[in-house]
Amino acid sequence: MKIIKSPADAQKYFLYITRRRKTIGFVPTMGALHDGHVSLIRRARRENDVVAVSIFVNPTQFGPREDFKKYPRPFKRDIAICRREKVDVVFAPSPVDMYPEGFDTEISVGNRKSRISDILCGASRPGHFKGVATVVAKLFNIVCPARAYFGQKDYQQLKIIERMAEDLNFPVKIIPCPTVRESSGLAMSSRNIYLSADEKRLAPAIYKIISGAKKDPSGFLGLKHNCSISAKMLENEIARRIKESVKGSEIDYVSVLNAGDLTHIEKLSPRISSSLWRILVAVRMKSGTRLIDNV
Ligand code: PAJ
Repeated sequence: MKIIKSPADAQKYFLYITRRRKTIGFVPTMGALHDGHVSLIRRARRENDVVAVSIFVNPTQFGPREDFKKYPRPFKRDIAICRREKVDVVFAPSPVDMYPEGFDTEISVGNRKSRISDILCGASRPGHFKGVATVVAKLFNIVCPARAYFGQKDYQQLKIIERMAEDLNFPVKIIPCPTVRESSGLAMSSRNIYLSADEKRLAPAIYKIISGAKKDPSGFLGLKHNCSISAKMLENEIARRIKESVKGSEIDYVSVLNAGDLTHIEKLSPRISSSLWRILVAVRMKSGTRLIDNV
């Protein structure tokens, strides 16, 4: 397995691979790899000749009061996982390699119409998705992937990257991958290590509540099965139950939106296929750790 640190060397190497007509499957990460990341790597391994993983804690997607400095960086362990999963190349640049003196370009998605970068996580993390879109565009240009794998765990991020890749004609297919969960139902995340024992015990209620609401929205509201309900009512009841079960938590958002483009949805009727809408939540735990999930 190759480990490449310099973007110029990486680009040279990946261009060489594509010229030999091999497909590159790419999994961008910030490291602290867990089974969620591994599921993306395995899918990339099945579908491509060459598998590339990037490990880069991207400073530009963290706000000034966020956890950039303390974000976990177990590099040796990550490398061992990549070896075990038969990754071909790990690209692990440093911040100055990615943002040298004079760097002055940003990609912002959703500026013209949808405001997709300003809602949900974008509302409480201003500039976050600009940082994500810009670094992913750079990574795509360095790695030249045929396919890139993104988790539905970060559903808004996935939608923003899909929009960017289409709008800017990146020759890459974006592959959405299902959320991997602990046996408790808690969505795996590199940030789960910040949770106290108490919070770890309470946090799985979030998934239980939103998956219950997704399965039978009218039943969740105590109404008869298969009747139409307002999305707003569902949001309110989900928020109420999370606050009740996850003691000390604060709701950042609970949103029921169209799954395709995260636009507003008024009513949920049994005629609307369940794949067409999504429940997205962000919850701040007592310790300050912010958990996101969606179904
Ligand atoms: P990171 O949080 O490390 O996640 C890397 C990829 O793993 C993302 O596509 C994310 O959605 C996916 N992932 C995380 N937890 C998952 C889970 N439980 N199940 C399935 N997939 C999961 O997301 C980022 O890094 C960064 O924003 C990045 C795209 C690398 C840009 O810096």
